[in-house]
Amino acid sequence: MTDAPLVLGIETSCDETGVGLVRGTTLLADAVASSVDEHERFGGVVPEVASRAHLEAMVPTLERACAVAGVRLDDVDAIAVTAGPGLAGALLVGDAAAKALALALGKPLYGVNHLAAHVAVDQLEHGALPEPSLALLVSGGHSSLLLVPDVTADVRPLGQTLDDAAGEAFDKVARVLGLPFPGGPHIDRVAREGARDAIDFPRGLSGPRESAPDAEHRFDFSFSGLKTAVARWVEERERAGAQVPVADVAASFQEAVVDVLTAKAVRAAREHGVRDVVLGGGVAANSRLRVVAEERCAAAGLRLRVPRPGLCTDNGAMVAALGAELVARGRLPSSLDHPADSAMPVTQVLA
Ligand code: KG4
Ligand code: ZN
Repeated sequence: MTDAPLVLGIETSCDETGVGLVRGTTLLADAVASSVDEHERFGGVVPEVASRAHLEAMVPTLERACAVAGVRLDDVDAIAVTAGPGLAGALLVGDAAAKALALALGKPLYGVNHLAAHVAVDQLEHGALPEPSLALLVSGGHSSLLLVPDVTADVRPLGQTLDDAAGEAFDKVARVLGLPFPGGPHIDRVAREGARDAIDFPRGLSGPRESAPDAEHRFDFSFSGLKTAVARWVEERERAGAQVPVADVAASFQEAVVDVLTAKAVRAAREHGVRDVVLGGGVAANSRLRVVAEERCAAAGLRLRVPRPGLCTDNGAMVAALGAELVARGRLPSSLDHPADSAMPVTQVLA
C-alpha cells in the first residue's frame, strides 16, 4: 500500500478537532484536540466555544499529525473534510481550512458526510467493509441505523432517534445522578457495580405494536421517555428522603439503552439480509453495548465489527479513511465552493 495516495482528513463537526492521515487503508496519524473540558461547566457542548477552540487547534493539530506520520503537507495527494452534518460554525472552521489547503497545494478536495465517515473508519482496523453492511451509529449527536451497500455512494437510513441521541441520554442521566460531563464513560464505570435488573426502565418504541413489521418507527429510537423516567425515579427517592442507589440506576438505565439499540440493529440486519454489523460513534465505546452486541450478533449468525474506542469517537482518521476510499474508487472530488451543511442528509456521502 506504500504507493496508494496519501489522504489528509479534517474533522470539526462537534467538539473534537481531528486531523488524520491515511494511505490506502493504513492509518499513519490520528491527531485529536478536544474542547470537552471547556464545555463541562455548561453540561453540554456550546457551539461558539467549540468553533473558537477549532480555530485555535487547527494548525497545531495539522502539524502534529504530519509530525507523527513523518510527512509534509506537500506529500498529501487528496484532502477530505467533514462537510456535515454538525454544528454550523464548527464545520465552517474545518471546511475553510480544508479548502485553503486544497487550493494552496493544488490537490482535490472531498467534502464528506460525517456519518459515512463513522462507518468507513472501521476499514482501518478490520479491512475492506463488507457490502452491504448494517451500521449502528450512536453518539452525543446521532443515533442511526444505516443500510450501507456502498459507503462511498449508497447509504440508506433505516431509522434514527426521534428525540435525544443515545449519548445525549447518557449525558443527561449522568447529570441527574451527579456524575461529570460527558456522562457516558462515568455511567459505564459506575454501572459495573450495579444490578442491571434493579429497575425496569421503559424501552422506547419497542412494544409489540411499535415492533410490528409494518410499524412506522420500528427501526427508530426514542430516549427522552427513558431519560424522564430515570429523573422521576430519582426525584421520588430523594423526596422520600431515601438514598439513591446510583450504581443500580446507572446499570438499569444503561441496560435499557443497550437492549433497544442491539435488538433493533439485529432485527434490521436480519430483515435486510445483511451479515455484517458495524458499530460507531462515542457510545460504541460503552462496555455493556459491546458485550451485548457481540452476544446478540453471534446468536443471530451475524458478524460484528467494532473499531477501537479512539476511532469510534469523532476523529480525523475517519474522514481520511472515507476520503481514501473515495479516491480508490475514482469518485469525483467536491467543488471548492461546496457549502458546509449542518443538516447534510445521511444519503449524501459527498458534498
Ligand atoms: O462520537 P462522540 O465523541 O461525539 C459526538 O457526539 O459526535 O460521542 C460522544 C458521546 C457522549 O455523549 C458520551 O457521553 C458518549 O459518547 N460516550 C459514552 C461512552 N463513552 C463516550 N456513552 C456510553 N458509554 C461510554 N463508555
Ligand atoms: Zn460523530
